[in-house]
Order: sequence, then C-alpha cells, then structure tokens
Amino acid sequence: MGQNVALDFLGDLRRTHDCGALRASDEGKRVVLMGWVYRRRDLGGVIFIHLRDRAGVTQAVFRAECDAALHGKAEELRSEYVVAVEGVVETRSAETINPNIPTGEVEVVAEKIWLLNTSETPPFPMEEHVDVSEDVRLKYRYVDLRRPHMQRNLMLRSNISLAVRQELYGQGFLEIETPFMTKSTPEGARDFLVPSRIQPGNFYALPQSPQIFKQLLMVSGYDRYFQIVRCFRDEALRADRQPEFTQIDLEMSFPQEAQIFEVIEPLVERICAVAGYDVKGPFPRMSYAEAMQGYGIDKPDLRLPRFWPVEDIFPHEAMLTHNGLPLVAITIPNTGQVSRKERDELKDFGHERGLRVYDDAKRLERDFPDQMAKVRGRTGAGENDLLMLAGWPGKPEGHRPEETVFKACGQLRVQAAQKFADRHKLLDPKNFKFLWVLDFPMFEWDDEDNRWMAAHHPFTSPNDEDLAKLEDDPARCRARSYDIVLNGVELGSGSIRIHRQDVQSLVFKALGFSEEEAKNRFGFLLEALTYGAPPHGGIALGLDRLVMILAQETSIRDVIPFPKTARGSDLMCDAPSPVSDSQLRELHIQHRRG
Ligand code: AMO
Repeated sequence: MGQNVALDFLGDLRRTHDCGALRASDEGKRVVLMGWVYRRRDLGGVIFIHLRDRAGVTQAVFRAECDAALHGKAEELRSEYVVAVEGVVETRSAETINPNIPTGEVEVVAEKIWLLNTSETPPFPMEEHVDVSEDVRLKYRYVDLRRPHMQRNLMLRSNISLAVRQELYGQGFLEIETPFMTKSTPEGARDFLVPSRIQPGNFYALPQSPQIFKQLLMVSGYDRYFQIVRCFRDEALRADRQPEFTQIDLEMSFPQEAQIFEVIEPLVERICAVAGYDVKGPFPRMSYAEAMQGYGIDKPDLRLPRFWPVEDIFPHEAMLTHNGLPLVAITIPNTGQVSRKERDELKDFGHERGLRVYDDAKRLERDFPDQMAKVRGRTGAGENDLLMLAGWPGKPEGHRPEETVFKACGQLRVQAAQKFADRHKLLDPKNFKFLWVLDFPMFEWDDEDNRWMAAHHPFTSPNDEDLAKLEDDPARCRARSYDIVLNGVELGSGSIRIHRQDVQSLVFKALGFSEEEAKNRFGFLLEALTYGAPPHGGIALGLDRLVMILAQETSIRDVIPFPKTARGSDLMCDAPSPVSDSQLRELHIQHRRG
C-alpha cells in the first residue's frame, strides 16, 4: 500500500543534525533531521513521530491546528518510512520529558516534511528486546541491523578497530595486507578452495590465517607488522565460531614472550576502555600444566576457584588412589544446601565423561574425618560450599592419561558452577579476568590419523631445552606458545616461531611429513628461512570474540554484520548456492551428483 504514496525528492536538502544531537540548549533552532519512522503516536489532533538514525531518536510533533495539510501527511506515515523533517526545537514541559533518551528534553515542532521512501511492514518489531527467531533476523539482516542493539554492537566494533589501529600505530607497528588467494596455511581446519580458471586443475586456498605471510614479512625486515584481517576456516561451527572471522594479527622480530605480552596488555586495556571497562595489566600467567592441574582446561575461567588434586591425602586402599591417577577435590562456593537430586545430576554428568564422583561430602566426612579435614584445609571449602571428589576408575587411553582425568573434572567443575550460578553469582559477565596460558605441549595425538599434530601450528618453536624431545619424547615436548584467555574463552593465540630451517624440518618430520611432502607444501618457507630469518614471534586475537564479550552478547553472530548460520549459510543472499554449468565448465569442474 505504501507504494501508492507520492514520494518527495531529496534535492539539495541537507541535514543540520543527526537524531541523537539535540538538547535543551538548542531551543529555538531551526533544524532538519532525516531518518526512519521508529514509533508513531496519533492522539487525534497531534501526531508524535519518533525519528531514528544510528545516532539516536528524536521526537517530532505535528499539530493539526497549526497546519492541517502537514498533519495529514504525518497521518500517512508508517513504521520504517524514510522522512526528512524541518522544524523548530522546543523544550518539553517537565511532565513530558522522556528520561530514557538523550534527546528526551526536547522535541522538534514540524513545519515541513519530505517523504523520501516508504517501507513494507517490517518482518519484526524494531524494539530492542523483542525476541525474534534468528533465521528471520538473518533473512532480513538489513532490517535487523537497524535495531538499536545491533547498531550499538557494530559501532562498538568500529570504535574497537579504530582503537586497535591507534594503539598499534602508536607502538610502531605497520599495517600491511597479505593475500586472500593463496596456498593452504594449516591451522587445523579444512581450507576453502578457489578453482583457477586459467590453470585447469589448480586451486587457491583462502587463508585460515596470515601466518606464513607474516613470518615472511619478518624475514623481509618489516619488524612490527599488524593487520585486522579476515580468515577463512571450514570447520564445525559453534556460537563462538564462524567460517569467516576477523583477527587482530601481529608479528614482531627479536621478541621474547614477555615482549609480546607487553604489546598486547596495553592494547587490551585500550580496547576495554572503548567499551567502558577499566581493565589493568599485567595479566596473570599460568603454565599449561598448572591450568590443567587446577582447572582441567587450557582456558580457565578465573572467576571461579580452582580444583585440587588430593590423591596424596587418601590411603591407598580407599577410593581411586591406587591407579596412580589424580583424585580431584572440586569445590563451588556458596551453593548452600545441595539436594540429593542436584548431586545425582552432577554425578551422572561426571559418570558420562568417565569419572567416578564422590558427591556425598557428609558421608566422606564420616568415613574419612582426618583426610577430609585436610581436603577442606587445602581447598578452603567451607560448610556452605559444594565439595565433591572425582577420580577415574581404571586407566584412560592416550599419551597423557592424567590430562584426560583433569579435563573431565574441569567439565564437571564448570557444569556445577553453571548449575548454581544464581547462588554464588561469580559468573558476572562484566567481571573481566584475563590470563596468559603458556608452555603448551608441542604436539597432540590425533586418534583418527594416528599421528602427532601440532598443538598450535607447525611453525611454533619448541622450548629451547626440549629440542631433543622432538624425536625421542614428543608427548613431553613443550612449545613456546601462549594463549590469552578471558573468562573461559580463548581470545587469542600466538607463539615464538621457528626461525631455523633445520629445526623447522625436524618439526615437519615429527609431524609425519615426508621430506617430499614438506617441500611440496612449505618449500618456499623452508627456503625463506635460509635467507637470514630473524628470531620472530606474534599472536592473533579473535576480534569477533572480543567484541562479543565486551558487548555482553553470547553469540559472535550478534557482532558480525552479515554472519553465516550454523550450517554455513547466508540466509539473506542464499549462499552457498548452485552455479551455472557454463561457470563450472570454465573452471574445469564437474559436479559429481549423489
Ligand atoms: P588461532 O587459530 O588460535 O591462531 O586463532 C587466533 C584466534 O582467532 C579466533 N578464532 C576464531 N574466531 C571466530 N571463528 C573462528 N572459526 C575462529 N577460529 C579462531 C580465536 C583464536 O584465539 N596463526 C595463529 C596466530 C599466531 O600464531 O599468531 C592463529 O590463527 O579467538
């Protein structure tokens, strides 16, 4: 119906203010605002329009008694019509002030209106907190992005990108672009491939990260490079993963780990300040081994207390302490009385992950009074706190069995913490606990491929003193890699790299690459390392995850303008989608059906 309304031309009409600008001090000014009709209240003789743009909302008033034709035109307005309004700023009477919007002390008494475009009825209300199915939001993303909370998120993202540039330029970094059409850069996911038309049968890979190029830039002497860069990974998607996402990627020459941290900590402080949070470095540092033994995960959430190995406290004939594996005391503060049903649920959760859970603290206290006093002494668990013990019956498979036990205990700890979150209130999303985790293992065993995989990536340097273990004892070889963790989320990862060709070749060998394979895939890198490669290292932070946490969102889709669904689809433009046979022919590709 909107399409039948006569539209006005913009001509040379210019805005004087945006919709968030006007204050009481502007009283009497003649202004021109432009934007979308957010809300319309029709009180008969008077129509109020809330005009919205990305800066805010301003009320315009149309009075029939002043100008019946103008009032008539305002009657035609509907949600999301695009208009320009010229009028005079008036302060509102005390009882009509709207304290919820910054422009709430004033309104614009309209004298002219231009209808610049109509709109279909929006597929969902534009109000902040109306729940809308995500599929509908993504299909009409251009409408969804108009909603104030999405506009806040994208503006925050833009401000954070600006702060990153200001901070890193200030610290002497150069912004340099690296190619998107390139050769596979392994980061543990599958590649997205781009077929070459002019070289039949050959493919580019979209970069999983700019890893190799930033290292090559160090070989070329561009010490202190950074980039806010799109990365592409074909992997299982989750709330904090997208097939294309953005990294704050940087690399330095001649650094120790500490120097990288000294670059990142002020950067993170500045980013948090943009979002209105006061965060101060230096951040605590913890080895991977400590993280495992205290939290059962390499990205511990420090808002919650750690757990404690207590197998030394218990006599060998009792409980699971005879198998040489950890027995772990898990405590969650301030849970108060925990019901039998709640304990059973936790016990089942642990059981499903292979654990035996001793959930009845009272009974343990009866059976082992002296030992339990020591457990309480070590953990600091009081009468009001949940206290459980957990261990592993038998022996788990794998090269680092104790880790398997710790990991399962870590999951149980988080499950218990989330279950009683309302009681202990420790999981406040505005309490930012940053942490560095370092000294990761160099390799992880891959059961599927039956071989060692790089825990970080194959260009990460082993610890100097573990070089010999590359061949003899890969399970115990540690890497010079580090993660920055925030409230249980891995925000970023990096490492000191291998800058010597002989060491890089050894690592490729430990990863099971034949010399030929290593040469085919990374020959150019191995060669570059022979042309005066300096010691170098770097890191990449996930920009989407960082913005998500600072915007208090739970999905990175809410801080990415046009994200993909969990199945990798763009519901708005319907991608991925079939292409024509002629396009495929040009690319020398035949589609195998079925
Ligand atoms: P890594 O693979 O750990 O390291 O990635 C760095 C950071 O990028 C973010 N991230 C993602 N964010 C959204 N969706 C994804 N699919 C996704 N995958 C990763 C995470 C992660 O911590 N080249 C190395 C960095 C280096 O060594 O300098 C790398 O890419 O926040």
